[in-house]
Amino acid sequence: MTFTMPDEWRRLRADTPGAAHVVHFNNAGAALMPGPVIGAMQEYLQLEAEIGGYEAARARSAEIVEIYRDVAATIGAKAENLALTANATDSYARALSSIPFKAGDVIVAAWSEYASNQIQLLSLAKRFGVRVVRAPATSAGQTDIDALEEIIKRDRPKLVVAVHINTSSGIIDDVAGIGALCRLHDVFYMVDGCQSLGQMPIRVADIGCDFFSATARKFLRGPRGAGLLYVSDRILSEGLEPLFPDLRGAQLQNEKEYRPAAGAQRFEDWEFSYIVLAGFGAAAKYANNIGLDRIEKRLADVNDSLRSALRGLNGWRVLDEGVGASPIIPIFAEGKDGAAIRDALAKWGVNTTFIEQDWAPMDPRLGEAGWAIRLSPHYYTSPSDIDLLLQGLRDAL
Ligand SMILES: Cc1ncc(COP(=O)(O)O)c(C=O)c1O
Repeated sequence: MTFTMPDEWRRLRADTPGAAHVVHFNNAGAALMPGPVIGAMQEYLQLEAEIGGYEAARARSAEIVEIYRDVAATIGAKAENLALTANATDSYARALSSIPFKAGDVIVAAWSEYASNQIQLLSLAKRFGVRVVRAPATSAGQTDIDALEEIIKRDRPKLVVAVHINTSSGIIDDVAGIGALCRLHDVFYMVDGCQSLGQMPIRVADIGCDFFSATARKFLRGPRGAGLLYVSDRILSEGLEPLFPDLRGAQLQNEKEYRPAAGAQRFEDWEFSYIVLAGFGAAAKYANNIGLDRIEKRLADVNDSLRSALRGLNGWRVLDEGVGASPIIPIFAEGKDGAAIRDALAKWGVNTTFIEQDWAPMDPRLGEAGWAIRLSPHYYTSPSDIDLLLQGLRDAL
């Protein structure tokens, strides 16, 4: 297939100031922000500078309500079920802290769980005697649903966690399949959607999760320093609340009592950056306006073209060949120094990520190779970006 860039996507690229300076294959790290996202933050900063921070939030209260709606729409949720946080890991910790674990309780997690999440689970195990049980994977790297059901029946876990799209490869897990099992067996279910947010339409109701965590800066193209946490009606009505709510998440009644906020706001802090929030809202609106279904289709074309070009590149191996459809592509070259290659590509203005094994020590593909260069294009990636990348990869060997 010849990779072309229709006008619509060319226009979106023209809306991306960074695309004039770098060739960006690091959208799974942090995407280049489009003009409206940058503009929304600059404008909000200016307003705070001119009238004061608290006063700016009051003046913009209607827009702030709209930001919640726009961000919630990216995951098919209502604003009442959305908490805005500092990052995805922060969301994850708040959610975990709300589940009343006791010693001996079981949490089931796959190999693909993000390293920071795994560390939090192990920390819970260390402090409270919770047991972390591994969900086996199919040969394609997805959670083995039958084996998971056996574990659920055997261990009666309190929580199952899953990652929608893994960080070190393109593997897309069957999060709705896992969700159906969790509903059937009445187990809490938390999904990390950090890499899927902004790549595709997401409907948390279809996934059937209790919590969904994500971050603004990746495929959604928002700023750094913002995250979201979806909290289901079930969690809210069961009265679960984070371990350390502040005076936004709860109201102090008297010297003995506080009352948690009604909605997912219970999981938020009083203080956060409204400038960053303005950028998050603009990124959500931008993606919703393009249409996440159309973004998904365009990304599939970019992904297919890049993967097929990489297959023809001597000396390089795509580590997750034939598995996920997602445009997070780990590549490896035998006997080479991956970090030096990342640096050499950077000299050409090509941004990539160097992944070492300790990022994902349970990733079977990475385990065998030892390292990978992760390539993550976006819908604004152009044919000439791909040409330059391929030239850089050839030159690196
Ligand atoms: C799958 C996945 N989960 C979680 C995270 C952590 O996100 P944050 O840095 O916003 O906490 C990442 C970051 O790369 C990720 O790829």
